Amino acid sequence: MNKKVSAVYPGSFDPPTNGHLDIITRASRLFPEIIVAVTENSVKNHMFSLEKRVELLKKSVSDIKNVKVISFSGLLADYLEKIDSFILIRGLRALSDFEYEFQMALMNRKLNKNIETVFLMPDQDYTFLSSSMVKEIAALGGKIEELVPECVADEFNK
Ligand code: PNS
Repeated sequence: MNKKVSAVYPGSFDPPTNGHLDIITRASRLFPEIIVAVTENSVKNHMFSLEKRVELLKKSVSDIKNVKVISFSGLLADYLEKIDSFILIRGLRALSDFEYEFQMALMNRKLNKNIETVFLMPDQDYTFLSSSMVKEIAALGGKIEELVPECVADEFNK
């Protein structure tokens, strides 16, 4: 393998959390280039627009040199083929994530047989953290400053 390997970290990131950042940081140490690929999840109603999520992620990863943030639409498997990548990164927080992630990994491989999904575990401090929980805490007036990057907390405070 001699060409530059780009690994894709896909997600809805609504909003990005410190758990996402932890996974991006770990992945950036394993692969020459990480592409954080933001998209719509058809089964979720998003709070932040796609453009805003991309903007927040760009700000959050600005100090990690080998990370870029893009948005895509359509099938993830097709996007990987288009950019000639075959590595997907996903975070696994707990056993409860496993069934959904396993199904998605195998379906992506069915759609594009070259795809390999690499699962990374976040720091244990983030195993309880999810974007939905951040939104709920913020909506009910709780403090989210320790859970999300500063630019995301600022966005909620606006
Ligand atoms: O952060 P999420 O919401 O858990 O990420 C899920 C995401 C966006 C990675 C998934 O919904 C996805 O890949 N969507 C793109 C459309 C697609 O390829 N669907 C089939 C997945 S097997």
